[in-house]
Amino acid sequence: MTETGLQPEALPADAPAPAPSRDLFSKFDGLMAEREALLATGARDPFSVVMEEVRSPTEAVIRGRETILLGTYNYMGMTFDPAVVAAGQRALAEFGSGTNGSRMLNGTFRDHLDAEQALRDFYGMAGAMVFSTGYQANLGVISTIAGRGEYVILDADSHASIYDGCKMGDAEIVRFRHNSVDDLDRRLGRLPAEPGKLVVLEGVYSMLGDVAPLAEMVAVAKKHRAMVLVDEAHSMGFYGPNGRGVYEEQGLGDQVDFVIGTFSKSVGTVGGFCVSPHPKFEVLRLACRPYIFTASLPPSVVATAAASIRALATAAPKRERLWRNARRLHAGLAALGLKLGTESAQSAIVAVILDDQAQAVAMWQALLESGVYVNMARPPATPAGTFLLRCSLCAEHSDEQIDVVLDRFGAAARLTGATAGAAS
Ligand SMILES: Cc1ncc(COP(=O)(O)O)c(C=O)c1O
Repeated sequence: MTETGLQPEALPADAPAPAPSRDLFSKFDGLMAEREALLATGARDPFSVVMEEVRSPTEAVIRGRETILLGTYNYMGMTFDPAVVAAGQRALAEFGSGTNGSRMLNGTFRDHLDAEQALRDFYGMAGAMVFSTGYQANLGVISTIAGRGEYVILDADSHASIYDGCKMGDAEIVRFRHNSVDDLDRRLGRLPAEPGKLVVLEGVYSMLGDVAPLAEMVAVAKKHRAMVLVDEAHSMGFYGPNGRGVYEEQGLGDQVDFVIGTFSKSVGTVGGFCVSPHPKFEVLRLACRPYIFTASLPPSVVATAAASIRALATAAPKRERLWRNARRLHAGLAALGLKLGTESAQSAIVAVILDDQAQAVAMWQALLESGVYVNMARPPATPAGTFLLRCSLCAEHSDEQIDVVLDRFGAAARLTGATAGAAS
């Protein structure tokens, strides 16, 4: 073989391609303009907060200021649990910092199996798969389970990872109105009887903190012979007698086909999982692309997850404290005259609904400057174009911290005109 074919003069002399008429980034112009307009008002960017120090599950230093954390999903306060931290340190020392590979090749270590065993024990189900994030668990399970010619039926307010799982798969997608049992029934009733169907639900919806009527929904799904997947990301650890989630609380222990969860909330680290009683569940390890084509979690992470899940199984006092905290905050914010996402404390999320972006950012900033961090959420993450401040409680918040938070909320609401004229 000669090298003639590699000489530049041997390449075909194509005319240079015309410059594209639109820059690929032009689609972001509106987003950039909106952000610049917001920052031009002197507002701080709610999406670039840095935790300079984290002192406990409920306290951090942000911009040099001691801040109460009220927007972290660290519901059960496991991030500083001594047994959990020690398990991670041991695994780091014994197995090193990472796995360098897929679960399917060199990326399954002892503690990945141990975390899966901890999940089997926690949920009382035979099948458990650990993914690198909860996002990937939804992406992988939904896109793999429901294929061409089959159906995924999902709540309109579903999390982005559920929508993305639908997009990644080849199934037909059918949406029903948020938490509407009738709409779910109607839409399932219009589908052909033969093809496989997967109904995807969440136990707690993370923007407003409202709970799904899972008992009725699962009954409707079963009537139409659909399988059911429930994402219990925001309920693990504190709903149901064993902390398995809303499905357990509503008496559906043996009626759901798949439970999706995350290690990034109550478990206090990072990672995701699916558990299932289905006898063929394990085959997903051979077919699920977001499980196969990515590196597995570091050993220290899965070791902390396993220790934390085992601790959550017997965390009744923490559960009680979390619920007491949620009720205390909800009642206090309602008494301030703020508009809330739910009428009573349905979960550990209490959402404060505001008029528009300017008011939401002003209030978020006033809170942060007074030492309280909450999440600001906006469309498209939020339902129906709402702007809200999302507070998520931790079992480790003290009554005093919640009282400080309420005091600061009162001041911020007065400053920004967010209260509907009720008591302040
Ligand atoms: C309902 C729901 N499912 C899945 C996820 C993804 O979890 P992870 O943070 O582990 O990717 C989230 C995260 O916010 C969520 O709220």
